[in-house]
Amino acid sequence: MPRALLLENIDPVATEILGAAGYEVQSLRGALDEADLVAALDGVDLLGIRSKTQVTAEVLRSRPDLQAVGAFCIGTNQIDLTAAAAAGVAVFNAPFSNTRSVVEMAIAEIIILARRLVDRDRSLHAGTWDKSAAGSHEIRGRTLGIIGYGNIGSQLSVLAEALGMRVIFYDLEDKLALGNAQRCDSLEELLERAETVTLHVDGRAGNAGLFGAEQFARMRPRSIFLNLSRGFVLDHEALRDSILSGHIAGAAVDVFPHEPREQGDEFTSVLRGLPNVILTPHIGGSTQEAQHDIGRFVAGKLVDYTATGTTTLSVNLPTVVLHGSSTDRFALLHRNVPGVLARVDALVGEHGLNVDAQVLATRGEYGYAVTDVSAPLPAHLLAGLAALPEAVRLMRFGPRAG
Ligand code: NAI
Repeated sequence: MPRALLLENIDPVATEILGAAGYEVQSLRGALDEADLVAALDGVDLLGIRSKTQVTAEVLRSRPDLQAVGAFCIGTNQIDLTAAAAAGVAVFNAPFSNTRSVVEMAIAEIIILARRLVDRDRSLHAGTWDKSAAGSHEIRGRTLGIIGYGNIGSQLSVLAEALGMRVIFYDLEDKLALGNAQRCDSLEELLERAETVTLHVDGRAGNAGLFGAEQFARMRPRSIFLNLSRGFVLDHEALRDSILSGHIAGAAVDVFPHEPREQGDEFTSVLRGLPNVILTPHIGGSTQEAQHDIGRFVAGKLVDYTATGTTTLSVNLPTVVLHGSSTDRFALLHRNVPGVLARVDALVGEHGLNVDAQVLATRGEYGYAVTDVSAPLPAHLLAGLAALPEAVRLMRFGPRAG
């Protein structure tokens, strides 16, 4: 029976899905350090982790039988992706299982900031009745400027419009404008038109310091600002200055350049204590619904990969989309050099087999070729394929695989 090891308290739906696919699943609450992880992976085919377990080159080297790693989260920095590809280990994550959760939090914060509810709440808890409409606004009819119109930005666009906001966006790429949203040609144009500006860019290195004093200066007076993307894209000193000067009326920040590692650790930031500023500990995507969907999504990807060879949304292998096969199938992950496919097909032909279907995709140094053949795969053909000098890993699927 194939085995799966799930660490870091992954949602039970993952155990259900892997169990239904025939895996014996061991689920542990905590993370494991390198030595313990290597020991625990003895005889394990699939590993599931979240952000705390480091899957190093040493772990991958020590456990050559490991087939795939599921990162039951968004980020994959904790996995040595290059070493994983070199070892023929597919890595999957859940890029959009918590998109909706982030969007709902952004919507909530836009309303809370526009109504100055944080300050009203603080006053009343402190015993002061401060009933006033001054500085309180509806969001209906106001212009929301979304920077980064990817999964989160575009979903936010739809919900914000449903609440009556006008939506404009700026993205480096030419994105489809949803609903009535309007694309801006430049970040400057967006900053000059929007009354609420929200950052949803990705974490590419070039985005470091994307938003600072110059950008705040371009924003309309008394605008609202949100960052739920990455801490390092924002100059926090510049935001503090803009809040204290009154140029920015309120802000919500969920991500920080240096986030405490452990629960209960002290949080230091120049943004602490500012009026009409919401600070949250990187919880934009943290809901039970998101955790459940991450469990379902990543477990599904692991099952699809090991059952059919499909690598859809793998973060480190070439993408090949496949369905179940009625014939025998093999997948060869190989070094991406000329002539491999010809050698594969020649070997198949030499064994008197016909290729029913074949798909090849490449990604950087690796190629991934999946081949369906008309008859059971003889052991000496499989041995010949595995012995090709370019082969990284050979896998066999199909009705006769065992
Ligand atoms: P995505 O990759 O789908 O979208 C990012 C978009 O930003 C892309 O369309 C890209 O072209 C655009 N972009 C990148 N740099 C840009 C720039 N300098 N100017 C304009 N556009 C730029 O990513 P997704 O899933 O929408 O996530 C967005 C951000 O939210 C990421 O940084 C992600 O790490 C973060 N995130 C935060 C969470 C939280 O808990 N606060 C949870 C989930 C994601």
